[in-house]
Amino acid sequence: MNHRKVLRAAVTVAVAGALASGMTMAMTTGASAGTTLGASAAEKGRYFGAAVAVNKLSNSTYTTVLNREFNSVVAENEMKWASNEPQQGVFNHSSGDRLVSHAQANGMSVRGHTLLWHAQQPGWAQGMSGSALRNAMINHVTQVATHYRGKIHSWDVVNEAFADGGSGGRRDSNLQRTGNDWIEAAFRAADAADPGAKLCYNDYNTDGINAKSTGIYNMVRDFKSRGVPIDCVGFQSHLGTSLASDYQANLQRFADLGVDVQITELDVMTGGNQANIFGAVTRACMNVSRCTGITVWGVRDCDSWRGSDNALLFDCNGNKKAAYTNVLNALNAGPGIPTTPPTTTPPPTDPPPTTPPPTTGGCSASVSLNSWNGGFVASVKVTAGSAGTNGWNVSVTLPGGASVTNTWSATASGSSGTVRFANVDYNGRLTAGQVAEFGFQGTGSGAGMTPTCTAS
Ligand code: XIL
Repeated sequence: MNHRKVLRAAVTVAVAGALASGMTMAMTTGASAGTTLGASAAEKGRYFGAAVAVNKLSNSTYTTVLNREFNSVVAENEMKWASNEPQQGVFNHSSGDRLVSHAQANGMSVRGHTLLWHAQQPGWAQGMSGSALRNAMINHVTQVATHYRGKIHSWDVVNEAFADGGSGGRRDSNLQRTGNDWIEAAFRAADAADPGAKLCYNDYNTDGINAKSTGIYNMVRDFKSRGVPIDCVGFQSHLGTSLASDYQANLQRFADLGVDVQITELDVMTGGNQANIFGAVTRACMNVSRCTGITVWGVRDCDSWRGSDNALLFDCNGNKKAAYTNVLNALNAGPGIPTTPPTTTPPPTDPPPTTPPPTTGGCSASVSLNSWNGGFVASVKVTAGSAGTNGWNVSVTLPGGASVTNTWSATASGSSGTVRFANVDYNGRLTAGQVAEFGFQGTGSGAGMTPTCTAS
């Protein structure tokens, strides 16, 4: 799960370590003078993003503000299920790819929104249920996260799965009716497909401690206790004319569970309080060390899905509003994310090991399964032996009736009985002890598979 996460953490640590030079615990401190939202957030180890309607990237007023102010983007609609899998199994990533290219060319990170949601599903999925829908949804998660593998900072794996009101329970939907475990199945599939992306649960009306946010809190706590791969919680924060007094406390209680928190779709109704609320939300995020970034849901007021609410930071001509100034000041005044500089390894005091290192080469493989009635996703770890590998092959014998429907990060020969998975070009060469991961999805039961690994 963690190669790129570790790498990213190492890079953050190295940069902060250089800044901190000599302190044992570095904390980039208060006053700084960034002059754009992105630069000011970056000085504090965070991102500041905007939702982008990809067809507006040809509008120069729009892109001038976007490129100057923001260091993160999210597709307002273009990475949703209805947009990128319009027919079952037929994927169209052209608009999403355009946004990723724009981001890469301008040094911005990308949030992925959203792999699964009850809304904006393609018609074909809306009409599905049961194990057919469960298979289709896992396939969607797998294919989309694989397509963008390595390019997404954080994925909203599941959006808006909890009900409004006092129940604290799940929202009814076709996805929910496939079984209560659909959310964890989605997170496991996303983790297998893109182990480096942060995987978030995202929702609205969670802007304080209330029944809905507590329902989500309990789910996250349960996921963390059972090892379901969740890394972050997104708080959409589509706000009205006041802000819950426990907004920050709510972020903090999630952070205390061991997940990052992010403000993912911020916009605020216009009126006397708008600028204050924008400032207060930004301060709350800055005060929570695991609040890693803020995204506003559009660039200019006229780009907003909230019509006449004038809910954003720039007016329709691209001029900065009072809310902008409050946000920038809060970013500049806020504390940075605490980081620990690299420690120097003390010289070894133990005597040298007396057991000779093993001389065998080869490789080993282990499989972990995420199953549901009628299907499964298998995540396979290949570990190189002491000689390393130039390439590897893993054989798996599937139980009768099971078959492989798709594979990522390996090439499969055969689909039922004994199936052989060969490395792809980027993960065949492993040094001693190094691990490569691949995965496959199947129909039927995957129980009891024992992989065998051969190195070349
Ligand atoms: C909205 C878009 O802004 C609109 O263009 C679209 O018509 C509907 O969806 N919560 C979310 C976002 O997670 O995806 C929604 O975006 C706003 C509410």
